[in-house]
Amino acid sequence: MSNKKVLVVGGTGYLGQHLLQGYAEISGRPYDLAFTYHSSPPPRVLLDTISGSLAFPVDLKSGSGFEAISKIFGQPDVVVNCAAISVPRACEIDADAARAINVPSSLVKWLQSFNGKSTLLIHLSTDQVYEGEKSFYKEDDVAVPVNVYGKTKVEAEKFISERCSNFAILRSSIIYGPQTVSPVPKSLPIEWMDGVLAKGEKVNFFHDEFRCPIYVKDLMTIVLALTSQWITEGKQMQLVLNAGGPDRVSRVQMAEAVAEFRGYDTSSIQPVSASSVDRGVRSPADISMDITRLVQILKIHPTSFKEGVRLTLTAEAK
Ligand SMILES: NC(=O)c1ccc[n+]([C@@H]2O[C@H](COP(=O)([O-])OP(=O)(O)OC[C@H]3O[C@@H](n4cnc5c(N)ncnc54)[C@H](OP(=O)(O)O)[C@@H]3O)[C@@H](O)[C@H]2O)c1
Repeated sequence: MSNKKVLVVGGTGYLGQHLLQGYAEISGRPYDLAFTYHSSPPPRVLLDTISGSLAFPVDLKSGSGFEAISKIFGQPDVVVNCAAISVPRACEIDADAARAINVPSSLVKWLQSFNGKSTLLIHLSTDQVYEGEKSFYKEDDVAVPVNVYGKTKVEAEKFISERCSNFAILRSSIIYGPQTVSPVPKSLPIEWMDGVLAKGEKVNFFHDEFRCPIYVKDLMTIVLALTSQWITEGKQMQLVLNAGGPDRVSRVQMAEAVAEFRGYDTSSIQPVSASSVDRGVRSPADISMDITRLVQILKIHPTSFKEGVRLTLTAEAK
């Protein structure tokens, strides 16, 4: 029997690279892997790490590139969509581009062009679909995004759930963990905090914005579990899951966890209100999430924030 096919859309990004590595490291390599890139050809180090995978240029805005995937790779059994304009401020600056990329209409249309067997679409959404006015949002709470990024993500969720019959939408919180095999251009949260706290200078951190950051390898475990469930059971799913870690933390608490692990002086952590800074985009205050559904359905217990910090900084030291 031939291998099942997995396509990671946005395979060059932070999560995409980690996922490709996760799939490639499964013993026996049960999946044929392909991924898409956009702004520049995939770096050699990524191609070497995910050896045997196929890389395709795709623009979600125009839909260009999908035909070549059909011809060379064929219909995937699973597509994981990690492509997005994922920086809220960038979405605010160019809302049309954000919508064109974050609502994956060209990807869904391409999937609909295959007749017969179904593809599972695992789509990355965000905790920023929630308004941020209470703690521990549940999946059934009404989505009231406060910025363009959140609005495009809600629109994407609606687009997918109305047109697809086999999907899992993961509302991810801040993703943290080690750097990727080919370093991504954006700064990573734990590494950034480590860098500024190491200098011992006073740094401002918000005390009144709460998130449930998720360790990147937990997100990988979630995606691999959904993949395996579809491949082994063949039962279509229509899932929306909060994908967060078990701890509700402010940026102050995040910085304290980094300082505690490193043994830095915590007096350099200056608590300030998020309202004291103009970031060019509205940011929801408390979008901590209830992850009961994730734990019950996938039997996964995400890593505590303190342990995730330890794992991240230990991995970076290697
Ligand atoms: N990182 C977080 O903390 C976080 C938190 C919550 C939710 N999420 C969501 O999780 C997903 C993955 O996030 P991430 O941090 O891995 O994102 P990322 O590092 O910013 O990667 C974005 C990916 O999208 C691709 N892309 C950008 N424009 C494209 C276009 N027009 N057509 C096709 N591909 C395009 C990029 O390709 P090139 O690099 O080749 O241009 C890259 O592979 C996103 O949906 C994001 O919204 C992330």
